[in-house]
Amino acid sequence: MQRTVKLGDREITRIGLGTNRLRHTGNNVSFIKAAVAAGLQMIDTAHLYTGGESEQTIGEALSPFPDQLVVATKGGFGGAGRGRPEALSAEIEDSLRKLRTQVIELYYLHRVDPQTPLEESLAAIKEFVDRGAIRHVGVSEVSVEQVERARKVVPIAAVQNHYNISERKYDKVVDYCTREGIVFVPFYPLGGDAGAVRDLARRLKATPQQVMLAWLLRRSPAMLPIPGTLSLDHLKENLGALALEISDDEFERLSG
Ligand SMILES: NC(=O)c1ccc[n+]([C@@H]2O[C@H](COP(=O)([O-])OP(=O)(O)OC[C@H]3O[C@@H](n4cnc5c(N)ncnc54)[C@H](OP(=O)(O)O)[C@@H]3O)[C@@H](O)[C@H]2O)c1
Repeated sequence: MQRTVKLGDREITRIGLGTNRLRHTGNNVSFIKAAVAAGLQMIDTAHLYTGGESEQTIGEALSPFPDQLVVATKGGFGGAGRGRPEALSAEIEDSLRKLRTQVIELYYLHRVDPQTPLEESLAAIKEFVDRGAIRHVGVSEVSVEQVERARKVVPIAAVQNHYNISERKYDKVVDYCTREGIVFVPFYPLGGDAGAVRDLARRLKATPQQVMLAWLLRRSPAMLPIPGTLSLDHLKENLGALALEISDDEFERLSG
């Protein structure tokens, strides 16, 4: 199975780490350092997570960021007004400060603001791209039509939507991203019923979580899941899913 995917002009390993429970503690600073030492190449955070402590912890642990690492963050979550250009620009400045970096490798519009056209939110993000403070842009919880509108404003390198073996409402977005060379980042990748994969896990001498990740990786070469964990053992286990092959038959059976 292909272990890497192209994010714009970069090549990265297809399993990342979600950090929406990461608090700013000494243990977590050590955990993030150890995770990167174990081979992690994509960390997913957001301005919103743990009231800013997630970004702060990643900045403290890793700044200046190693070349092989992509730290992705997001802004504009919270409903009407959060995607207004001035609100979004202030969040981006804050994320740059907390992450202790001059450049954010991947920045997502976390949600489309119901009262601000997505073109206006993305134009605000594009200003940071134009001045070199953001390298790649993504969008989150979007339809194909919204991705197409977004791409008219700025190149879109990644889409992050709710998707896993049991939650398939974005199948069309996965197929679109696969065709268009856009990375598809499923959030809640371990959601759903682990029981459904238990037999196969036993046969493959893997864990149910590894099988759920392997199913996602097999679903599309554009897929880059970001399982959230605060455990180094779980993180290593999740990276181990890159080496797990499931056959066409097993894939079809699990797909339902
Ligand atoms: N774009 C958006 O709107 C959006 C929304 C929600 C989430 N996200 C992102 O998606 C990431 C993933 O979502 P999530 O973390 O909530 O859900 P998840 O990845 O589906 O599941 C995380 C849960 O699984 C456990 N886990 C992880 N690896 C495991 C393993 N190998 N074995 C057993 N248990 C394991 C974790 O506990 P342990 O800590 O004990 O391992 C945690 O309880 C978030 O961290 C965030 O970055 C994005």
